[in-house]
Amino acid sequence: MRLSVIGCGYVGLVTGACLAEAGHEVVCTDIDRERIAKLNAGGVPIYEHHLDQILASAHQAGKISYTADAGEAIRAGDAIFICVGTPPKDSGEADLSAIDNVARQIAAEAKSAKLVVEKSTVPARTGLELSRALAAYSKKSNVKFRVASNPEFLREGTAVADFFHPDRIVVGVEDPSSAAELREIYRPILERSFRCPVHNGTCPPGRKAEFLVTTINSAELIKHASNSFLALKISYANVIADLCEKIGANVEEVTHAMGLDARIGGQFLKAGLGYGGFCFPKDVQAFIHLSASVGVDFDILKATERVNKQRIDRFFEKIRQALWVVKGKRVAVLGLAFKANTDDIRFAPALEVVKRLLEEGAVVHATDPEGMPRSKALFPQVHYHDDAYRALQDADAALVCTEWDVFRKLDWDRAGKLMARKLVIDGRNLYMPQGMREKGFEYYSFGRD
Ligand code: UDX
Repeated sequence: MRLSVIGCGYVGLVTGACLAEAGHEVVCTDIDRERIAKLNAGGVPIYEHHLDQILASAHQAGKISYTADAGEAIRAGDAIFICVGTPPKDSGEADLSAIDNVARQIAAEAKSAKLVVEKSTVPARTGLELSRALAAYSKKSNVKFRVASNPEFLREGTAVADFFHPDRIVVGVEDPSSAAELREIYRPILERSFRCPVHNGTCPPGRKAEFLVTTINSAELIKHASNSFLALKISYANVIADLCEKIGANVEEVTHAMGLDARIGGQFLKAGLGYGGFCFPKDVQAFIHLSASVGVDFDILKATERVNKQRIDRFFEKIRQALWVVKGKRVAVLGLAFKANTDDIRFAPALEVVKRLLEEGAVVHATDPEGMPRSKALFPQVHYHDDAYRALQDADAALVCTEWDVFRKLDWDRAGKLMARKLVIDGRNLYMPQGMREKGFEYYSFGRD
């Protein structure tokens, strides 16, 4: 099928690339002309596992193209995926101005009927507004539009694998023909009839994705309800960690046993510095805001958010307890990205840690396999190192902020010889406390003795 993708950020680029890899003809557009120029020159503006490889193969097969001309992209596709940003306003409410702009552009530029699919995360009822805007601005052309919601559940770092092997594909529609069209778009994924780029061509046997057809409002709600629940689970584990510290229990023993109950499940129970990124923090806020706007007080989500913000305070309590005075201390920050395997630093807990360290007068040395270029622009006063051991040289403390594998595998005997003081404060519970102490380190983590 011929598809258009508007917005070449994480969601749009992964969606466009994967749909092209699955056999469709995809035209992508973005208001950022530099981004389009880079893509046209064969570059990949974001770091995402497998993305460069599938963009290259789709490009070679002539399945994907990029244009800065939104009209051209809009006219090219039978279905148009809207993948633009919906950042939070100061109030927490989602800013939908980019969706509104795209709606007016589609209405003005389309010459034939289109299925307009919202993939950006939006509050419930956005689809209704999108429908109204498309109808209002296409009065002259009299082109007909159908609207659908198709929320993405992609995790950064594993987005390509998640796209090809989803648990479920949710489509919120207003008529059966839209559901049929979306089922056809996703048929290669549902039938696993694509050349799997994440498993050298062949998908391993496993559960096939469920294709769920719902109303548009339900689909929009499913996305916010899912992400908020995962955030709630993380905050729950973090409070259990605080409790473990007071009581003298081990959070990993507790959450492991909890997770074995199939009703609870073991994922998203990892305690530490809390959640970040461009999804959970803003989605939780937007969901609280949406609930309040219809008179529903989503108190547990407010607590989820509060607990998450307090993780940084809890981390600093540990830092102060260990270091006493922070001012003038040389501190090595291991990890800047909001989680491992991504270069994304948006709403990263690590950045909040860096900001506070600088405010308190620490000398900050930092390293991250992918997150440094973006951090440099925000915190030029930090000393950046490609090599973790360089960052640890003469450090009074090492602060682990992101769970990168390279940090998990660090040789702490070697690092200990380089550091001014053998002190590790681990915000991601990467190491065994006893093992670190046997190596002669003062070691602090979350919810473990
Ligand atoms: C999330 C959702 O998982 C995905 O479905 C949605 O489409 C986008 O938002 P993402 O933001 O890429 O994906 O990251 P995810 O892997 O879900 O982690 C979110 C945050 O929670 C990270 O900061 C991570 O470090 C933190 N986290 C995760 C924990 O603190 N503990 C956990 O147990 C799991």
